[in-house]
Amino acid sequence: MCGIVGFIGKSNALHFVIPALYRLEYRGYDSAGISVIHNGRVFVAKKKGKISALTTYLSEVNFPSYANLGIGHTRWATHGEPSDYNAHPHTDSTGEISVIHNGIIENFLQIKNQLKHHSFVSETDTEVIPHLIEEEMKKGKDPETAFLDALEKIEGSYAIVMITSKDPNKIFCARKRSPLVVGIIDGVGYIVSSDIPSLVTFTKKVIPLDDDEVAIVSFDDVKFLKNRQRIYKQPIEIKWDIQEAEKGGYRHFMLKEIMEQPHVVEDTMHEILSVWDEIVVPKYSKILITACGTSFHAGAVGRIWFESIARKEVDIEYASELRYKDKDFQDSLIISISQSGETADTLEAVRIAKEKGAKVVGLVNVLGSSLSREADLVIHTNAGPEIGVAATKTFSAQLTALLLLALKLAGFQKSHKIVDELRRIPEKIDRFLSKNNVQDLAEEVATFKNALYLGRWISYPVAEEGALKLKEISYIHAEAYPSGEMKHGPIALISQDMLSVFVMPYDRIFKKTFSNLQEVIARKGKVISVITQGYENLLPAEVIKISIPQTDDLLSPFVSVIPLQLLSYHTAVYLGHDVDQPRNLAKSVTVE
Ligand code: F6R
Repeated sequence: MCGIVGFIGKSNALHFVIPALYRLEYRGYDSAGISVIHNGRVFVAKKKGKISALTTYLSEVNFPSYANLGIGHTRWATHGEPSDYNAHPHTDSTGEISVIHNGIIENFLQIKNQLKHHSFVSETDTEVIPHLIEEEMKKGKDPETAFLDALEKIEGSYAIVMITSKDPNKIFCARKRSPLVVGIIDGVGYIVSSDIPSLVTFTKKVIPLDDDEVAIVSFDDVKFLKNRQRIYKQPIEIKWDIQEAEKGGYRHFMLKEIMEQPHVVEDTMHEILSVWDEIVVPKYSKILITACGTSFHAGAVGRIWFESIARKEVDIEYASELRYKDKDFQDSLIISISQSGETADTLEAVRIAKEKGAKVVGLVNVLGSSLSREADLVIHTNAGPEIGVAATKTFSAQLTALLLLALKLAGFQKSHKIVDELRRIPEKIDRFLSKNNVQDLAEEVATFKNALYLGRWISYPVAEEGALKLKEISYIHAEAYPSGEMKHGPIALISQDMLSVFVMPYDRIFKKTFSNLQEVIARKGKVISVITQGYENLLPAEVIKISIPQTDDLLSPFVSVIPLQLLSYHTAVYLGHDVDQPRNLAKSVTVE
């Protein structure tokens, strides 16, 4: 979940490393640091706080302003609290080896015990890495051999980048279950990074590392190794535009990304329909959806589509749970959904299922990511880079892909009437976005400490997504329930201090949800309802109504989720929270 970057080339490394760190800040933002080699010496600067704290610090200290080689790190703490000394890069006892790392070194305590004669200055697991390499170099090994030998002693997951004054013309990189990508900047040099989205402003030519691969990057060449043997890898082309990774006049990425949803649905639909006949779903007898967080909620909507449209029995499991289940995956089709394609739990679940005989369909937003490379069939959610930590537009893109996949599994043609209705969705989202009352509700929502999000059937996963959004960026406790479950316990919580948000489009089960809403009103609960335009009068006067455009019962999640995203956004802004980088969260969860 930390972000790592390195540059080597003809230009000033600081002009690449610092902007790339800002781009990676969504992966972690509790401390940051950089390291360069200048006049044959390793320099390190690190600071608790965001990248801006580091850059201020750099302007105050005597740090080299020019170097052709440098690395940088933005941290999301796992071992040791956020502090200057726990921030990366970490160095060895001589100060000649500087290392940044993303992941977890599981045997770091054992290694520390073996290196008792070394003094450690941080509480991190990472710090053992430069000391291990130092130990190997002391045996007379060159930096590359020492690096490779040290890797063999490390257990866990990692993306590691090292520079050393003992070989000042190289960046040493290694990957095991934590993403790492090498970008080629023609005529300038190379940039390595934790993820592809952070590279779009520098290059569109990238080479992702696979597990257990090493890259030794020099000024004019990259040497890839696997099991110490040289391998050759081809670059892939990133299709994203630089503008897509900018705020484009919006105050926050999250708002920009919410507003982009009409064209995201359109683009994802267009891309999938354009290759419709080429999509061949592997054979299967069982289907299981797996994902985490928002992607899981999209999957839960997808499950209903697979059942209703394709008449398929489908299981769904959190990826972080699936791996512990004693399941037989023979002839199973795993539908794995991930925006980043790098979520550690999702990747691990997929790998276990594949080992046990499953075929994998990956719904993924970042092409070139691990999931996109490991899946048997990739369906691209064409949402463009999502920078706001809270997922919004990728949820809509995932819904689009899942709906079309349901049609594919049903054996329907792309001329099916559901596709016609899907084609009308972008205009409906657009209509809602251009005129709604959600911002006006933020002040009142902000007064609550707790909220229930309620919905039945296809609106229940939407309620779950709404509750997740409110928790994530407003820090207001919110839980989702199928509204029929309310009377089995949660109703005890209803009072004027509890906000209930009902997701209740006027669909085939509206009347049932309506009864649950009455139960809340009878107990003096505060209610906001997301309801189909034209049916507001059915609800009691004291209910706050958010009207959404009418659509087919099955497609309502496309429009009902939008007000929930906006509600959490405006509430968080009202409360003065950092919307794009909420506390404790990171965009890409690459630790298990
Ligand atoms: C919520 C959010 C997370 C992610 C989850 C999975 O707003 O962003 O819950 O949905 O971490 O991430 P991906 O989809 O990248 O696998």
